[in-house]
Amino acid sequence: MSPASPERRRQLALRRRLLAWYHGNRRDLPWRHSRDPYAIWISESMLQQTRVETVIPYYQRFLARFPDVQTLADAPLDDVLAEWTGLGYYSRARNLHAAARCLIERHGGEVPDDPEALRALPGVGRYTAGAVASIAFDRPEAVVDGNVTRVLARLYGLRENAKSPAMIRRLWELAGELARGPEPGALNQALMELGATLCTPRAPQCPRCPLRGRCVARRDGDPEALPVKTRRAARTPLAAVAGWIPRRGRVLAVKRPSAGLLGGLWDLPGGELVDGESPPQALQRCLLEGVGLRVDSLEPLGEVQQAFTHRDLTLQVFRCGSPQGRVRLRGFEAHRWLAPRSFLRLPQGRATRAALELATPGGAES
Ligand code: ADE
Repeated sequence: MSPASPERRRQLALRRRLLAWYHGNRRDLPWRHSRDPYAIWISESMLQQTRVETVIPYYQRFLARFPDVQTLADAPLDDVLAEWTGLGYYSRARNLHAAARCLIERHGGEVPDDPEALRALPGVGRYTAGAVASIAFDRPEAVVDGNVTRVLARLYGLRENAKSPAMIRRLWELAGELARGPEPGALNQALMELGATLCTPRAPQCPRCPLRGRCVARRDGDPEALPVKTRRAARTPLAAVAGWIPRRGRVLAVKRPSAGLLGGLWDLPGGELVDGESPPQALQRCLLEGVGLRVDSLEPLGEVQQAFTHRDLTLQVFRCGSPQGRVRLRGFEAHRWLAPRSFLRLPQGRATRAALELATPGGAES
């Protein structure tokens, strides 16, 4: 074997420091007690776009309900979405369900250890494939997420825009070199952990960092300036209305089409305001167009706010008296008249849940 280059020796020293720090300082998180590739895949899917503290109870409930690939593949999609209610980015749940069915068909129900086979599954990209292959199978595969990007940009003083193709290539290359060696899964988690706990976007705790002696951004005195980002365009406002339409102790629920925002989830009927409409006018129009019902009296129940990636939703909710007509759907996949309690058990987005709570203060008894 040829002797390691000075650069490789530096990398190996860095990874030893990182691993020692990780083993002494890592947070005790539920998925870190498992080597089950299925459990790790679920955790990594949940952790994309969502904070650790939010994920923990969802992860525990999800695994209790769907403990293995077969159980997930056999479950109706609605049950999977129901367990995901409140976690957001519902395509993740739809993809996990579809991927579980692929695993049964193509891999005998086993999660493969090969990154290429992993990436062929619905919803599995380079990050998730690298995370599962390294954490569950100890394969020397890289992961690059927001935390890893920040740590590497600061450590190596990379001043290019974090979204530029050249920078993305460089980050994966550096992460790949670091992953090579003993305990690649722990090494990858160490990078993520450092980014989450010490090498934070604001006020990084450099004096406690195991890499402080080698960090270019610290040496240059401006770690907070890295990574360089383009500012995200401001979210555009989205004004919408929803109607609580009671009939003989039940209320009208509609199911959104499976493609698109909040696809496959259950909702109150309603829609977006168009220019110049007041919220009651918009609701009367949306109900007539979307569910074929005419409503005359509208009582405001309140307002719900929710920020999506690109939109800032303000949803005005109304109780609608005396609906006239028969339900005819346009733009929805199904409808049901439900007892409020049953409505709350269906898969739904966070804003819908908040709207239902406005209509049934104290828990869906009305
Ligand atoms: N974020 C993404 N993956 C993670 C992991 N395995 N542990 C903690 N945070 C994470």
